[in-house]
Amino acid sequence: MTQADTKLSTHLIHHPYKAPADFESPVVPVHKGSTVYFDNVQAMRERRWLDKSSYTYGLHGTPTTYTLEERLASLEGGLQCLLVPSGLAAIATVSLALLKTGDEVLVPDNVYGPNKSLTEGELAHFGITHQYYDPMSVEDLAAKITPATRLVWLEAPGSVTMEFPNLIEQVRLCRVKGVTTVLDNTWGAGLAFRPFDLLGDGSLGVDVTAHALTKYPSGGGDVLMGSIITRNQPLHMRIKLAHMRLGLGVSGNDAEAVLRSLPSIGLRYHAQDRAARQLAQWLGAQSAVAQVLHPAMPDAPGHAFWKQLCAQDQNSEGVAAGLFSVVIDERFDQAAVDVFCDSLRLFKLGYSWGGPVSLVVPYELPEMRSRATPHIRPGTVVRFAIGLEDADDLQADLAQALAKAFG
Ligand SMILES: Cc1ncc(COP(=O)(O)O)c(C=O)c1O
Repeated sequence: MTQADTKLSTHLIHHPYKAPADFESPVVPVHKGSTVYFDNVQAMRERRWLDKSSYTYGLHGTPTTYTLEERLASLEGGLQCLLVPSGLAAIATVSLALLKTGDEVLVPDNVYGPNKSLTEGELAHFGITHQYYDPMSVEDLAAKITPATRLVWLEAPGSVTMEFPNLIEQVRLCRVKGVTTVLDNTWGAGLAFRPFDLLGDGSLGVDVTAHALTKYPSGGGDVLMGSIITRNQPLHMRIKLAHMRLGLGVSGNDAEAVLRSLPSIGLRYHAQDRAARQLAQWLGAQSAVAQVLHPAMPDAPGHAFWKQLCAQDQNSEGVAAGLFSVVIDERFDQAAVDVFCDSLRLFKLGYSWGGPVSLVVPYELPEMRSRATPHIRPGTVVRFAIGLEDADDLQADLAQALAKAFG
């Protein structure tokens, strides 16, 4: 159709100009589209949405999302990847895809809190039972596996209290028992250890990872997204069918933002690790601090398991994320801890970590755990997420807030 055949509004939409293909530059183009065109009805009927060989509908993927999926799978050592609108959506999609009425799911007691809420809420409503297990006891996990157990959630380290479990033995046990494992890999992010190759010889790995890309892969504190990664095509397809039926997708702009941040993830992760360890060590020497909960600290719960997995080269310092907690001594009440948090100037009060700005959150531990935590000293737990500010400036900020709150 030429311009002479159509009115201007039609011509502006069905314009004959096509930009040349193969424009190459450092960034992946942002492809957006709910609608995908087909050349003819036969092409429409033949197009497959089940793999990445073609395009059918925006929800099933674009060149931008396919590219991000492939790069994230490489980051974590997986083969297949699905993108979802948040880390929590990744958790929910895995549980909904792999569990049905009558099944049981086992969840570590220190798991990311909203995973517990989902387990106690929607999963329970659907007739899926659960048990919380002690993340630091492989024996407890073994004792809780029953013929109804279909899925075991893992997190290394656990949220807020940062205990590093014996992941290798947990996964080995589940493999022997024939139970699917899914690791919340947000902390490790594919950088601290290889979740699909825990022994370094390809013989043992988790079945699925769920990753809050919201944290390190985004790195900006401005994008919500999650991924579900596998190394097993049939398992991937089970999750993909649920993903499709639930109507989950991510925006092209958000996918591009994560693609833009991905090349610097290693630099950011290691810088935040270095600064976090400096601050964790310094805080450990302050009189108001009863305990430091950072898996790389020698007296932290599960330190030996962290070392085994994240410092495989015996001479290396090992790798950790920029996240840790401290216990403020029980002689200080909640009000004093609140003064400490409110007095920080560079640290902001906020939950979602992995960005450039350092964050602090005070927690009420007894409300978060179903079992006693004798390895955590009495007091108030405060979690820090270290950003990209200068570590000495952050230390000075902590020093002035400690002095103000605790004298
Ligand atoms: C360990 C962990 N997993 C999952 C999530 C959920 O990520 P999102 O905020 O993208 O839902 C978070 C968020 O804080 C988290 O800390």
